[in-house]
Amino acid sequence: MYCVYCSGGNVNIDTYRIGTYRLVYNMGVNGLRNVRGMQDLYGQKMELFHFVKNTAWSLAKCYGYSMLDTPILEYSDIFTKTLGETSDIVNKETYTFQDKDGRCITMRPEFTASVARAIITNGLTQTLPQKLFSCGPLFRHERPQKGRYRQFHQINCEFIGAMGPSADVETILLIQALVTELGLSKHITLEVNTLGDGESRARYKAALTCYFRDHYSSLSDDSRAKIETNPLRILDTKIDDDKKIVAHAPKITSYLNDISKNHYDYVISALHTYQIEHKINDKIVRGLDYYTHTVFEFTTNLLGSQSAVIGGGRYDKLIALMGGVDDIPSIGFGLGIERIIELLLCLDLKKGITKIEPIFAIITVGYTETCTALALATKLRNQHNLIVFLDHNPQSSVKKQLQKASRNNVDYAIFIGPEEVQSGIVKIRSMLSGDEISVPNTDLDVYLHSLVQAYKK
Ligand code: HAM
Repeated sequence: MYCVYCSGGNVNIDTYRIGTYRLVYNMGVNGLRNVRGMQDLYGQKMELFHFVKNTAWSLAKCYGYSMLDTPILEYSDIFTKTLGETSDIVNKETYTFQDKDGRCITMRPEFTASVARAIITNGLTQTLPQKLFSCGPLFRHERPQKGRYRQFHQINCEFIGAMGPSADVETILLIQALVTELGLSKHITLEVNTLGDGESRARYKAALTCYFRDHYSSLSDDSRAKIETNPLRILDTKIDDDKKIVAHAPKITSYLNDISKNHYDYVISALHTYQIEHKINDKIVRGLDYYTHTVFEFTTNLLGSQSAVIGGGRYDKLIALMGGVDDIPSIGFGLGIERIIELLLCLDLKKGITKIEPIFAIITVGYTETCTALALATKLRNQHNLIVFLDHNPQSSVKKQLQKASRNNVDYAIFIGPEEVQSGIVKIRSMLSGDEISVPNTDLDVYLHSLVQAYKK
């Protein structure tokens, strides 16, 4: 524990060393602190958050998606039934509690199960296909570290009623377009695999169980525990000695039936056709049990161990499993917004916060001019849609107001003092060049319009 001082009081900083990262938790002024693994988003990160969300939404719209917002709380069986009882999320990571009616409630750890539930409860299975875009917070009680939080946000897209393998390709094309639009295509790699259909997967599972039983004595306790329950999860082990055994394990491609093989071949061949760079990675099994056929992750080597920034795949049986009538083939993906923000910051790609509109501040020379200033600010905001800062503090000198304006990235300062009020002329200063121009109130509308147009060019 370290102590530092700031003007607001005594601030305690908790530090945790995890791998090469030092996590710093702000214990806040006078011991007030946020919940471990949960962070406040503001300033530049918040700007980037909206940039990522808006970019994703405007692209998803072109692919036919509409927005769906589901509640953060769901009855727990929505997740226990679907994510797999042996999955880490269900086993140890959910925030689950009993509500006052005694019902078991879980704060959503992911979107897919909630979206599937919403499809069924709202009768949307009658009008397939449905392409649904969601964005919001998710909760997983994982060990916090850089890029891994207990509250984080995803952009999530689900294509429900996605019949053929071309839907997998379309989903990957959407992600590829998004990654490109965010300026990250050189830093993110698509890794793809198949888990086959139920029949192929059962055969593969049996082969893996036999193989790992033969290597029981050399495996870690963690992997041993998965041999009988979920041997596929041993494939993505992080333990080095286990990795050596996994390297020689049977491969899924030898166990695919014709349907699964044709599906996979179609997807891989289309990736070549569309020149989408990709790596086949037969160790991708995903942490959730509902996947069938195509699974993928978009990874980066710039974020340490939290390398996956986007993950997804096909889940043809999930909706039937939840109580929908028939199998409804579907595919989707989740993009971790915090990880994308960290990537943008690490690469210094602040495209999202590039201003396209100028920002104004009205600087009052004396407090008595605040009335006139407020009227002008209101007019500029309401009639011209401009971003305008106005300091209401009677103690703020012109110098202080200008300092605040700089902090707020203001482009133009409009001065209003007794002289300006009397003459009906305002002074406008460019904060960048320092140039000033006097504009009569009667010409202000036209002048501001031309200023904004010139700024946007
Ligand atoms: P997931 O791989 O668990 O998939 O999560 C998707 C993305 O969410 C990850 O690649 C990562 O960027 C981000 N993420 C996951 N956990 C955390 C965390 N603790 N802190 C920060 N970011 C995190 C799913 O959630 C599936 N529901 C995706 C999907 C949609 N599959 C089909 N449709």
